[in-house]
Formats: sequence, structure tokens, C-alpha cells
Amino acid sequence: MNEAEFSDLENHQDQTEIFYIWQKLYEPYIKEVPLFKGCSIGFIKQILIKVHEEFFLPGEMIIEQGQIVDQLDIFRYGQLISIVMRRSSCSSPILCFAMALLMLSVVVSSQLTTNFYSTTCPNLLQIVRREVQRAIMTEMRMAASLLRLHFHDCFVNGCDASILLDGSNSEKFAAPNLNSARGFEVIDSIKNAVESQCSGVVSCADILAIAARDSVLLSGGISWKVPLGRRDGLVANQTGANAALPAPFDALDTIIAKFVDVGLNITDVVSLSGGHTIGQAKCATFSNRLFNFSNGAPDSTLESSMLADLQNLCPQNGDGNKTTAFDRNSTDLFDNHYFQNLINHKGLLSSDQILFSSDEANSTTKSLVESYSTNQKLFFSDFANSMIKMGNISPLTGSSGEIRKNCRIINT
Ligand code: HEM
Repeated sequence: MNEAEFSDLENHQDQTEIFYIWQKLYEPYIKEVPLFKGCSIGFIKQILIKVHEEFFLPGEMIIEQGQIVDQLDIFRYGQLISIVMRRSSCSSPILCFAMALLMLSVVVSSQLTTNFYSTTCPNLLQIVRREVQRAIMTEMRMAASLLRLHFHDCFVNGCDASILLDGSNSEKFAAPNLNSARGFEVIDSIKNAVESQCSGVVSCADILAIAARDSVLLSGGISWKVPLGRRDGLVANQTGANAALPAPFDALDTIIAKFVDVGLNITDVVSLSGGHTIGQAKCATFSNRLFNFSNGAPDSTLESSMLADLQNLCPQNGDGNKTTAFDRNSTDLFDNHYFQNLINHKGLLSSDQILFSSDEANSTTKSLVESYSTNQKLFFSDFANSMIKMGNISPLTGSSGEIRKNCRIINT
């Protein structure tokens, strides 16, 4: 990192928060590395910013003798004997679990492959990670916004980057996205950075999928290998976006039906709703619960102190664009507090709280909410699995679609 980059980082507002999260994630391991023993805290901080995590399967090549690299590899669980690796089977339960998850992902995703760009754009993952890091250091909420973009892309016409297309008929003007979906400029920056190294090779749809994964990881959540090879669609589908995307006012059976329509199940509904452990929502999306919800009273499934806070923030006829955090316990941290909130009647949207409190939840979603609220590992593994499934909704592959040069417009 040069001086200019260093002072650029120093100027970012959200640094304290992001350092805190990354410190929790990586510091214990960085400190164990003999090379860094005795280094200043400032130096360790800069290393923390640069670290990114990758999982490897048994037998997968990480580095070869004689290979010249421009990065430092720190192996957390692998058994690095010399530069030539000898990896035994799983050396830790967490790694075993990650490996099992990754193997599962290969089964789930038949058309896409995790090494799709390994020869055509070998630095793709590093480029995207760097740009996502940059974006969330400027604004931590961006992690949430990028995660949501991938979800809103995949539910409409499949994961084909149709949400990124500009124009009056675009999905950007559909009700769930209008004045709400954000992060388009960040995707532009990532695409530009990718194009400058591998022109015309990487789809915008794949960039969305990788950025979503990186956003979760850099917020303190789990990582997974992203199956790749999607191509970009040629049309947006505004009507489809209005119909297919779940609304915060939908009943549970409607939400489940919208997930089933794209090949997802009840476990996916609950685990992916856990995405609401980060990010914010506008008053307009939950204010119906605050005053005249039923029989002139507020929603009885909303805890009373939170109700009072929200009534204060979002008075009747107030500004519907004001926002508040989904997860008040740990606003920007990807954890299982979302589910603990639901059990404490502190879900923000009606569509959140009904996963635990509605009658229909008893036979569908409630038990999973309870399990995730006490078992973060289970939540993380189900979440990663569901993200891979969601990322595999009707991808365009082979010669369908195209690789857009600019994510906002189709190629001419
Ligand atoms: C289950 C049905 C879902 C409904 C009804 C729903 C609805 C919403 C609404 C109304 C907002 C606030 C938008 C705003 O105020 O501008 C929101 C934000 C968000 N949603 Fe969902 N959502 C659902 C599922 C998901 C899924 C599956 C994910 C991702 C896996 C997700 C990730 C997010 C994130 C991260 C935010 C915060 C975005 C930001 O801060 O910019 N949601 N969602």
C-alpha cells in the first residue's frame, strides 16, 4: 500500500466500525504469524484491511513451488510444511464443515462452476474484493445494499443482471426498487476495475454474486465459493419485478409462494431473511404497523419500547423516507441477532415478525427461527447454502445473453 492509498483510507468515516469487525475476524490469526510479531498496531491495521479469506478443498492447488506471487498467504487450518503443500483431511471441525458445504454447492449448482474465470480473469476475486472493501469503508451500509441487489436480481428473470439496466422500463422503477435499491455506482466501479484487467469476459451478473458474498464476509458473516459463469440478460422486466419480489406487507403464505416460484423452499425463506441482520429500512416499509394496524391499534406483535421508538421516528404523515436499522443490537454486523430479535418481538418489518409470530409460522418457519436464534453456525451454513441456490436461479449460460461491457446498457 502506498502513501496515497494509506491517507485515502484514513479519511474514511466508517473506519472505526469496519476495523472493529475485521479486527474481530482476523486479528487473532494475524497476531500468530511470526513475521508480524512486534509490528506496530498501525501496521497490523493495514494488514487487516488487506486480508481476504478463501476456502480451499482438499487436493485443490493453492500455490506451487517456483510460482511468483504478489500476495502473502497465511494458512489458518492447512498444514503448510514447506511451499509444497501436504494437506491431510480436515484439520478442524470448522474447516470440515466449510468443505462439506462447498461440496454440497457443487451438487446444487450444475451449470455454473467456481473456477469459471480461472484462466480468463485470474484476479477477478481479488479485484471485486478490493472494490467492495473500498465501498463499505466509505459507507458500511453498502454491504447490505449489495447483498440486496443480488437478491432482487435473481428473483426477476433469474440472476442475469437485469436489475442493473437503465431506462424508463427498467426494474429500477419497480415498486420494491424505486428509491430503495442502491449500490449501482459501486457495481459500475467494480465492473470498470474488472474490465481494465479482463475486457469483455466477466458478466455483471457474476459481479453481483461475488459482491454479495464479499459483503456478507466483510460484515463478519460466512464465506462461500461462488459458482460462476452466468451471462447478462438483454431485457429488464419491470412487471416481473413488481410481481415476483416479496413485499413487507405480504402474508407468510404469499412470501413462501414467491420463493417456491423460483425454486426455493421454506428453509431458504428463513435463512435468507436473515440477510436483514444488516442494513436499513424506510419508515414507509413498516409504518403501517405503528398506528392503525388492526382495530385501530398498533401491531400487537411489536415489542412496546421498540414500538414507541419507531412511532417517534415515523409519526403519522411523517417523512416515509427516514430509515432505521433492521438489527438494533448490531447494525452492521452479520450475525444471528436478527432471529433473536424476532423471538423478542423486535422484527422491523411485518414480513420479518410473521416468520415467528403468525399462526402459519407454527407449521412452517417458527422452529427454524428458534434454531437460528441459538445456533449461529447453523444459520451461517444454511444461509451460504441458500445463497448458492438463489444464485443459481435460471442463469443464462453458453451462448444465451451476452457479457455486457457496461452493466447499465446492453451491448450495441
Ligand atoms: C422474505 C421477503 C423479503 C422482504 C419482504 C424484504 C423486504 C425488504 C424491505 C422492505 C427492505 C427495506 C427497503 C427500503 O426501505 O428501502 C429490505 C431491505 C433489505 N433486504 Fe430484504 N426483504 C426480503 C428478503 C430479503 C432477502 C432474501 C435478502 C437477501 C438475502 C434481503 C436483504 C435485504 C437487505 C440486506 C436489506 C437492507 C438494504 C439496505 O440497507 O440498503 N431481503 N428488504
